[in-house]
Amino acid sequence: MEQQRVRLERDGDIAVIVIDNPPINAGSAAVREGLMSAIATVRAEDSLRGAVLIGASNTFIAGSDLREFGQPLAEPQLPTVIRAIEDCGKPVVAALHGAALGGGFELALGCDARIAAPGTVVGLPEVTLGIIPGAGGTQRLPRIVGIPRAIGMICSGERINSAAALAAGLIDAEAAGDLRSAAVAHARQLAGKQRLRDRAVPAADAAAVAEASAAALKAGKRRPQVQAAIDAIVATATVGIEEGLSNERAVFQRLRVSREAFALRHQFFAERDSAKHPALGDARPRDVRCIAVIGAGTMGSGIAIAALDAGYEVLLLEQEAAALDRGASRIHAHYASRVKGGKVNASVAAACEARLSPSLDWPRIAEADLVIEAVFEEMGVKQQVFQRIDALARPGAVLASNTSYLDLDAIAASTSRPQDVIGLHFFSPANVMKLMEVVRGKASALDALATGLSIGRALKKLPVLTGNAFGFVGNRLYAAYRRQCEFMVEEGAAPEQVDAALEAFGFAMGPFAVADLSGLDIAWRMRQAQVATREPAARHVHIADRLCEAGRLGRKTGAGYYRYPEGASRPQIDPAVTELIAKARSDKGIVPRELGAAEIQRRVMLTLVNEAALLLAEGVAERATDVDVVLVNGYGFPRWEGGPVFWARERGAAALQADLRELAAWSGPGFVPGDVQHVLNVEG
Ligand code: NAI
Repeated sequence: MEQQRVRLERDGDIAVIVIDNPPINAGSAAVREGLMSAIATVRAEDSLRGAVLIGASNTFIAGSDLREFGQPLAEPQLPTVIRAIEDCGKPVVAALHGAALGGGFELALGCDARIAAPGTVVGLPEVTLGIIPGAGGTQRLPRIVGIPRAIGMICSGERINSAAALAAGLIDAEAAGDLRSAAVAHARQLAGKQRLRDRAVPAADAAAVAEASAAALKAGKRRPQVQAAIDAIVATATVGIEEGLSNERAVFQRLRVSREAFALRHQFFAERDSAKHPALGDARPRDVRCIAVIGAGTMGSGIAIAALDAGYEVLLLEQEAAALDRGASRIHAHYASRVKGGKVNASVAAACEARLSPSLDWPRIAEADLVIEAVFEEMGVKQQVFQRIDALARPGAVLASNTSYLDLDAIAASTSRPQDVIGLHFFSPANVMKLMEVVRGKASALDALATGLSIGRALKKLPVLTGNAFGFVGNRLYAAYRRQCEFMVEEGAAPEQVDAALEAFGFAMGPFAVADLSGLDIAWRMRQAQVATREPAARHVHIADRLCEAGRLGRKTGAGYYRYPEGASRPQIDPAVTELIAKARSDKGIVPRELGAAEIQRRVMLTLVNEAALLLAEGVAERATDVDVVLVNGYGFPRWEGGPVFWARERGAAALQADLRELAAWSGPGFVPGDVQHVLNVEG
């Protein structure tokens, strides 16, 4: 028999309905069924004068069971449960702790009062999953906070802590002591039903609604569910609750089976699983309290900020005082601007800064449980630094390198403890970007890698385990992508056409605008270093070399693929580049042809799928869905497209094999075909 997910306990004349569906008390069909029967009991028994809804263990309903969303929903559905609560004739109090999100918070809004333990978070994150709240969230929330604020909350999916929720009226009280007793006492003193459905929607100023809508659409990249949520919320001003609820439900039902919702759920699960790695077995992370960051440059300062924000003691080490001062000032300026912008409370910022020790005293490395090296990207320098770390760090400390391209095994070999060496590849700016590659060297111990993944989570990153190969997963994918874009320019597309097609697809920025921003010289130097070893027959595009030779290194020199005149807000198309490209084509005897946006987008997706297949076959990527996590969180790939692996699985094996033959023909000599089965294998 299926285990009971809801049980009814009694506290005198108040029923305490306990939701017990580990691990997050998801509002699955069994929970909904259990709630229906408990509410029926409350309604029927004269000895009960009210009820409390509470979650077992450490949370209220933290969300719906997303796995159900791709299929027809089982009865009873959530709106039916909420209706039963509203119509049971007795007050029902939601006792919130942990998280009350999505359907969990909608259920709470269907109750007559909400009491929360301090630290509880509430919110309606449905929009971030391609849908809208479907059980009255868009109708009941505006009845508390008004239309403009409801638009802001629902469209951003923001999580609101109990103190802010209390200030906004989303909860009625924070429980000072025991939550359950506070909620029971509250239920006992409620005079009768206090249904939100019976409340009027506060009148809203048209300008404020327009402003909130415009801001939400912009922040939400104009995705359809954002507009749908706005429409549903705005409608509360003119339509009654019954009609509003039924319209909301219809939109929710349509959106939950939309392609975007499938893609966003795919990405949600891929991200959720990224730090749980079966390959690590039951290896336990080592304890980390103090982190030493070596090198206070761009990356070192960003890593230090991420670690300070997460509550670690940070020792920041440098080779010379001036560089150390620059790094320390950069960190200080960061916190000062966060406080000034109202993003961080001054005392929190001060506490973060107080945990930072900038120092030139290397023996202090002995204090660190984890050392993260972020010095110049040169093997000789890194090896020397690791030798020094090796001589000073305590036994068992994890030693990590932030290298982007260097061979981790060669770095590890310069120490006496390669088992403790891993890669922690952050992305710039390191305190902002979510992605972090945890690189496995050939000697890396499983618990050192587990420490990398757990630190990633603690720093609020999405850590992905990768093998040790040139560019790891992310930069390998990106290099293949960029190469394909260069092919297309050589064949006839202008850089701005390629950028526009990919931005229209949803990339935050096109590849040529990105190249100009990060500077063309790094890749140029890398190509020069590889000239001797590269496949001579393979197709090489020389346009970027010609740009660099002409001193066009990107934004920092005022020109790259585009021109950046002083004062111009956007990159400008440069006739000199058009001419340079035309010459490069004619040097190779290429007759330019038109490439449409659809071809550009398709070639990019196929290239990414092919490279993912190669990375999986080589064991550099360990799990197909990690590829999607990497691209969305490190490279501006549009989340709502799910990622190339999602796309490939949608297309299926037969179509993909034909697609990849076409990609091979487009790409010319040197193209290495991957086996798409690696991408399609859902266990992979
Ligand atoms: P950076 O040039 O801004 O900073 C490097 C810092 O290391 C400088 O402050 C320098 O004084 C210090 N340093 C150099 N040799 C040292 C030594 N022997 N001992 C102590 N400190 C030393 O460089 P950035 O951009 O921060 O890069 C650092 C590392 O991070 C490189 O390995 C790079 O490949 C990697 N990385 C860089 C990314 C980026 O976007 N900039 C992204 C991801 C990784």
